[in-house]
Amino acid sequence: MVTVPPLPDRARRSCLAVPGSSPRFLAKAQGLAADEVFLDLEDAVAPDAKQDARRAVIEALREGDWHGKVRAVRINAASTRWAYRDVIEVAEQAGSNLDAIVLPKVSGPPDVIWLDLLLGQIEQAMGYPPGRIGIEAQIEDAGGQAAVDAIAAASSRLEALVFGPADFMASVGMRSLAIGAQPAGYAGGDAFHYPLLRILVAARAHGLQAIDGPYAAISDTSGLRAAAASVAALGYDGKWVLHPGQIETVNAAFAPGQAEYDRAELILDACQHYTTVRNRGAAMLDGEMIDEASRKLAMVAAARGRAAGLARTQRFEPPGGQEPGRPDP
Ligand code: GLV
Ligand code: MG
Repeated sequence: MVTVPPLPDRARRSCLAVPGSSPRFLAKAQGLAADEVFLDLEDAVAPDAKQDARRAVIEALREGDWHGKVRAVRINAASTRWAYRDVIEVAEQAGSNLDAIVLPKVSGPPDVIWLDLLLGQIEQAMGYPPGRIGIEAQIEDAGGQAAVDAIAAASSRLEALVFGPADFMASVGMRSLAIGAQPAGYAGGDAFHYPLLRILVAARAHGLQAIDGPYAAISDTSGLRAAAASVAALGYDGKWVLHPGQIETVNAAFAPGQAEYDRAELILDACQHYTTVRNRGAAMLDGEMIDEASRKLAMVAAARGRAAGLARTQRFEPPGGQEPGRPDP
């Protein structure tokens, strides 16, 4: 039997990008309702500002009030001259206040293994609990897509795979400059369906969260809502946000609905009743056939609802006697 490891329990509905070079944004982000903040040392920071940004990010982690948020830092890609110092300085000086490192442009397992080993050395040297700092791997080019299964298996520190639409669009030559939106002229449906599903399957096979990247048109709330709803329906756990005005829309898109949560709990109760009291694997619930597969699906929806603090509003009433059309064997 294949056992799928449980998902990390950190909520990541909205993951806010905060440029590490902006003290104003670093301060403002602390009061916002994003589930995760990632303080960016990569593409939002100009090459000449990298060193100052590192210092600002370390200070913000140490001095800031990030209560209730996942605290992450996006370092520069493993192939760059900044990456090793990003990890060493941030993890040594602010490792106790850091939950995860976002590693961009992951093109294969060695990138992740390098980061895992380096973090392990720093944890030993600093006396930090081993393995506490997680890794989120950005899959954002053709190489990363092709190697995504091996990347997902590369380290026990991995918590999430993150789709990066901007770099991905550039990597495969997509003819659009609208980051995260559908490219004009594409007639095949959702142009991102393949990479999104590819990442999702690799993530789930290894018990990781799957996070969608940014939607760059900040004032286009309905476009953002549609993009977030689409990946949420597919199974994604969250999405990046680039601006405070995007947080609420994205949190709402990934929050479990009350009706779905109630239904999930009913299915679980019904499956329990039929498999134990009635000794049957399949049964009807409100006109719908349910069985072991329904139970597994319901477990996922119920877990999401419970994690979001929802309370059920319906109770399961075991039917008396036999159900119409489904005689007991
Ligand atoms: C994010 O990093 C992206 O490339 O979309
Ligand atoms: Mg990118």
